[in-house]
Amino acid sequence: MPDTLLRARLLTFTREPQGSEDHGAYRFVEDGALLVSDGLIKASGSFGDVREKAGDGTTVIDHRPCLMMPGFIDAHLHFPQVQVIASWGAQLLDWLKDYTFPAEALYADPAHCERMAAHFFDELVNNGTTTPVAYCSSHKTSADAYFAEARRRNMRVIGGKVLMDRNAPDAVCDTPQGGYDDSKALIRDWHGKGRALYAITPRFAITSSPEQMEACGALAREHPDCHIQTHLNENHAEIDETMALYPDATDYLGVYERYGLLRSNSLLGHCIHMQPREIDILAETKARPVFCPTSNLFLGSGLFDYEGLRDRGILSAIATDIGGGTSYSMLQTLHEGYKALALRGGNKLHPLRAFYWMTLGNAEALGLSDRIGTLDVGSDADIVILDSRATSAMALRMETAKSLAEELFILQIMADDRSVSQTYVAGEAMKRQADTAGQI
Ligand code: GUN
Ligand code: ZN
Repeated sequence: MPDTLLRARLLTFTREPQGSEDHGAYRFVEDGALLVSDGLIKASGSFGDVREKAGDGTTVIDHRPCLMMPGFIDAHLHFPQVQVIASWGAQLLDWLKDYTFPAEALYADPAHCERMAAHFFDELVNNGTTTPVAYCSSHKTSADAYFAEARRRNMRVIGGKVLMDRNAPDAVCDTPQGGYDDSKALIRDWHGKGRALYAITPRFAITSSPEQMEACGALAREHPDCHIQTHLNENHAEIDETMALYPDATDYLGVYERYGLLRSNSLLGHCIHMQPREIDILAETKARPVFCPTSNLFLGSGLFDYEGLRDRGILSAIATDIGGGTSYSMLQTLHEGYKALALRGGNKLHPLRAFYWMTLGNAEALGLSDRIGTLDVGSDADIVILDSRATSAMALRMETAKSLAEELFILQIMADDRSVSQTYVAGEAMKRQADTAGQI
């Protein structure tokens, strides 16, 4: 493969921006470039400087005036819910029973898993997402299909089969031993292979018996480098049912605490209705809440307290939660996130912070910022190219944009997959055929 030089307006973050004037939190180069070789970023900076480092025969692709950023990271979504999005009328527990479990039951069939995996990754790439952190169904075959499709595309992914052995139809339930054995086999086959990482995935306390929670605790002890993902405090009825099923637990988080599931690579979806003690435990264990705004608004679950958690030093991730969530687009997710935080009445979500969040912020929450979420030299070449004038309405609005922050906010509020002009995965153009290129 010849090296590739990508030319565009380069934006990458170095830490969380504290406001418009916090220029030290990011690197923006108006005529910027990346030199990509063997799936990695070899040079990053101004076009003039990077060009000097490129050898003869390097392919040059000019994406100006688009922005070039690290590929987006979606820290919580459900692969077997691609046909659950836009299911009408219910709150969480009815939505699971009426729509989600029946849809997930179909993933016992490998052919269905393979077809849906291809669509799932197509949608992610169309929307500029280069790393998903996904729940598969309880069937091992769904996780095999997820990881196999990711490997075909050389994508960095995290995922796991859900463990669930009760309070759901037989067609989506496993058993404590079966769930443990399948998780072990999946970890053996996929974890750390190529760009894949495994997440131990008890669905939530309602659908796992104490015996299965013990098995999850064993998996967690045996595989400290695997992520752990589950749901927490999404909905009042869910919390009441959890406390009825685990009457000895101090609170909902206490269930996961008891079975050893809380650590810095634990991802807890939603975390909306938190008790003070639970917030203390998050701060102590460094388990990460995951904010899923489109889902929280769609299912009527509630408003995530981003600022309250942040003030306690708790690092949150942000995610689509397909298919409780309503869009694959992380841009749309940050759009709804802006509105959800506005409804709480606190500070508005600044666009610099929003773009940091879905790139370096999520990479930090996943413990992967040495590889993804940045355009620094040595990182994986997972890159998104964004067109701030992709629609006529955006082009009109851009006529009056005076700053980078204003342009980013237009993208955050008005953009969707139409603004994702290209997505590079490990240096390969994945959204559409590589653009016409010149050579040095
Ligand atoms: N809690 C347990 N399972 C799910 C799920 O699939 N989606 C959401 N939003 N919450 C859950
Ligand atoms: Zn979820």
